[in-house]
Amino acid sequence: IERKDIRNIAIIAHVDHGKTTLVDQLLRQSGVFRENEVLQERVMDSNSIEKERGITILAKNTSIMYKDAKINIIDTPGHADFGGEVERIMKMVDGVLLLVDAKEGPMPQTRFVLKKALQQGLKSIVVVNKIDRPEASPHEVIDQVLDLYISLDASEDQMEFPIVYASAKNGFAKYELDEESDNMIPLFESIMENIPYPTGDEEDGLQLLISSIDYDKYTGRIGIGRIERGSITKGQQAVRIERDGKITQVKVANLYTFDGLNRVEGQDATVGDIVAISGIENLNIGDTICSVDKPEALDSIEIDEPTISMTFMVNDSPFAGKEGKFVTSRHLKDRLERELLSNVAMRLEEISTDSFRVLGRGELHISILIETMRREGYEFAVSRPEVIMKRTEEGLLEPIERLYVEVPEENASTVIDKISQRKGEMQNMEPVGDMMKLEFLIPARGLIGYRSEFLTDTKGYGVLHHLFEGFEKHKGEIKARNRGSLVAHETGTAVAYGLFNAQERGRIFIGPGVEVYEGMVVGESSRAEDIVVNVCKRKQMTNVRASGSDDALKLVPPVKLSLEQSLEFIGDDELVEVTPQSIRLRKKILD
Ligand code: GTP
Repeated sequence: IERKDIRNIAIIAHVDHGKTTLVDQLLRQSGVFRENEVLQERVMDSNSIEKERGITILAKNTSIMYKDAKINIIDTPGHADFGGEVERIMKMVDGVLLLVDAKEGPMPQTRFVLKKALQQGLKSIVVVNKIDRPEASPHEVIDQVLDLYISLDASEDQMEFPIVYASAKNGFAKYELDEESDNMIPLFESIMENIPYPTGDEEDGLQLLISSIDYDKYTGRIGIGRIERGSITKGQQAVRIERDGKITQVKVANLYTFDGLNRVEGQDATVGDIVAISGIENLNIGDTICSVDKPEALDSIEIDEPTISMTFMVNDSPFAGKEGKFVTSRHLKDRLERELLSNVAMRLEEISTDSFRVLGRGELHISILIETMRREGYEFAVSRPEVIMKRTEEGLLEPIERLYVEVPEENASTVIDKISQRKGEMQNMEPVGDMMKLEFLIPARGLIGYRSEFLTDTKGYGVLHHLFEGFEKHKGEIKARNRGSLVAHETGTAVAYGLFNAQERGRIFIGPGVEVYEGMVVGESSRAEDIVVNVCKRKQMTNVRASGSDDALKLVPPVKLSLEQSLEFIGDDELVEVTPQSIRLRKKILD
């Protein structure tokens, strides 16, 4: 059948270009919000960490009715790709909306996701947003978008993308800049016209690829995917084919479709529908749900291996409970197990009754979980990140990542330098506009602590992604430069945590109340100054020292003054004293 009543699209946008506002506006105008329903301020990003970090991590579904059609909009992660999430989303849709700010133009961060969409052969609509702004320069922005598509090897067909100019904030969209418009209809129409509708054989055996996993405390694990073939009915018997080919008989206990921002129970669904199902034990990404009489798997989905681990420990000191309400081993275990249900690239190992090893796709992947949990009220201690090694007959193997970076041209040499110090080997180098695109193979180890340094070096303009490449022979020691560590100066009890995690510039390895001993590394930052500032801001540990390389220390002016809290920086071979005055100064600048 031809599902002319459905469009499945993904939305790609850089932080702050107006994605949330646009989806809000489409929902408003589609009449989803009835009189007394309160419009949530931020529709797409319900996760507050995502908001703060400006990256969307979880794919969300929103479903909007336009006339008699249903437009399913799937949010894409604008930034990191943990275990092939972007590819999975692209499998569910027939087209994408590329949302671009009319002043800033396309940003390098969206390149990666757009590339995956184009490689998949998807059609796109370019939405130039914020045209109400006086500084808007939509023509230039369109030129930049064209350059971007050329650099991504878009097909001729893809180069002829339709353009819609919009002011999501004021609720209008139009095809031509000089048109009058007071509504979003042109965008709705453009989606209906330009994005292909799903087609497939409704009578044939069911095929549904589980592309994302959600979790609900009442129904448990929920699998989301698009029906490629046939139809599905609530309560039906079906066959599940797992990624490794294992076949089991299952029952589709519950079936849901999407309505606005909600998941609603449904009775049946067919080709082209994006549905959620529950009631299947251990339902997983990459599983195909098929009809009993025609069990044929769809191309499955690769999920990258975890390469980094961190140990989460119960904080069992007398101070426990000061910073969070969930402190026991039971709390920690339940929470981590729940995380596994939807965080597909993550693994968990129980080390002892009160410590757990969390394995993930890199530091960022795990640190997002740490922050989420702390915000939810969990209190625990964590170890430093460690690389997951393998021992075989050939010797010690370590995980290698394929690292893609894009940096402003003037920062390229610094970045190349630093990555090679971290044992990265350059594979490719290519200018794109005034950016430089670089590709490396690098031990996962080399990436630990690098992201923050990279962002500093590129003033936030750089983009960094990595995909798992494979295990290779261990490449020898890395001497990381330019970072400071926070070292306890005395044996005692830490008073608080969370010193300097802002913008990934640093991290702390311990929780409040945790015993520290002299010389123990309790945290680190790529910029040693952050350690000091934050320690003092919160009057945390007295007597801590930060040590780091000369580069990191250059940032700290050596001034002398006496104070009750003594903080010292130790460089590779020099000692610099930091004073309340210099701290106050810096605090002012940062505040
Ligand atoms: P993240 O959730 O951080 O990824 O951002 P986003 O892309 O969802 O952007 P959001 O919708 O939060 O908009 C960012 C800012 O731009 C907000 O302050 C909006 O009010 C503003 N904004 C969005 N659309 C428009 C527009 O059409 N015109 C103007 N002038 N401002 C807009």
